[in-house]
Amino acid sequence: MLSSKIVGIGRYVPEDIFTNDDLTKYMDTSDEWIQERTGIKERRYAKKHEETTSTMGLAASKIAIERAGINKEDIDFIIFATLSPDYYFPGCGVLLQRQLGITKTEIGALDIRNQCSGFVYGLSVADQFIKSGMYKNILLVGSEMHSMGLDFSTEGRGVTVLFGDGAGAVVLQATEEKDKGVLTTHLHSDGTHAEELAMINPGSHGGYFLGKEDFGYPETDDPGGVFVTQKMIDEEMLAPNMTGQLVFKTAVTKFPKVINEALATCGYKSEDIDLLVPHQANLRISQFVQKLLKLRDDQVYNNIQRYGNTTAASIPIALCEAWEEGKVKENDLICLAAFGSGFTWGSALIRW
Ligand SMILES: CC(C)(COP(=O)(O)OP(=O)(O)OC[C@H]1O[C@@H](n2cnc3c(N)ncnc32)[C@H](O)[C@@H]1OP(=O)(O)O)[C@@H](O)C(=O)NCCC(=O)NCCS
Repeated sequence: MLSSKIVGIGRYVPEDIFTNDDLTKYMDTSDEWIQERTGIKERRYAKKHEETTSTMGLAASKIAIERAGINKEDIDFIIFATLSPDYYFPGCGVLLQRQLGITKTEIGALDIRNQCSGFVYGLSVADQFIKSGMYKNILLVGSEMHSMGLDFSTEGRGVTVLFGDGAGAVVLQATEEKDKGVLTTHLHSDGTHAEELAMINPGSHGGYFLGKEDFGYPETDDPGGVFVTQKMIDEEMLAPNMTGQLVFKTAVTKFPKVINEALATCGYKSEDIDLLVPHQANLRISQFVQKLLKLRDDQVYNNIQRYGNTTAASIPIALCEAWEEGKVKENDLICLAAFGSGFTWGSALIRW
């Protein structure tokens, strides 16, 4: 019976630190407001026009591959999770493959668009491919360059202060060791509130789900339309939007539920968790979940204070940091859990 084990892990965060005070130069906000509601003190922004989502993914991948002790040519599949890709299409998976210099092997590259749950979804997909015997070494990456798409005016402050840039990567490898590696994964979604945490433009929607809101589409005789209109540019309709309180309330119910689902599947209880690495959405959400599950401080890893919410990258960055700090040890029971836009959510249990 095959299972998949994380044999290498890497992370990359950009050099440039933006504190909450730095943000007050662009928008009406304060360090006190941000810290009180989110726990975030600072975040990193990639060097615009020099770094991209795929180049950050490359930096994290190189470390993960080296730590896995394999050659890049040994990778037989790439999974790349992001909501902020370099291009509208193709996805970052093929860009990463090209930058790694492994185009000769012509391996498959899959892009995942599940926002904050992207890494957990990717882990589950990778796990199925490995368990079925289809692939032996899968490179799974989560990377985000949010800073290129945020609204830095006061109008965008409710969203912008939360997010940061960065990347994390793991190499998953097939193993025959019993009760090791990924033990279980659980994926869920509910599209009812798809637009409540979203960036709807640019897209092909044409206003379809959004009532009569005018997006400024030009009248033309030909069958073609446009993804981006002048009105979207002029009226700053090209930034993410979020109904914060709905997201908060839903997250604090779905996180514990999906964690308990994973624990119950394997016959464990929350006290058996050595380390919970939740998606770093908001420190208050993590603290709420910790309290509900009756976990001690040393059972939960948080680093949102330093990086903000890095979406698909947040779990692999946090897991990597925890591992580097010696908080993830051989045989530990590690729980990963995520919730985000879609809404989508999921969990995984790993015997390290
Ligand atoms: C975003 C969040 C911190 C906002 O906190 P909140 O207490 O719900 O705040 P509200 O949105 O109700 O706004 C309260 C006030 O603060 C203001 N405000 C919003 N963002 C602000 C900011 N960055 N700085 C200062 N004031 C801000 C609002 O304009 C509002 O002002 P008003 O009362 O004069 O209208 C909170 O809803 C949250 O954490 N939600 C979950 C977000 C999340 O995790 N997203 C990622 C999921 S993957």
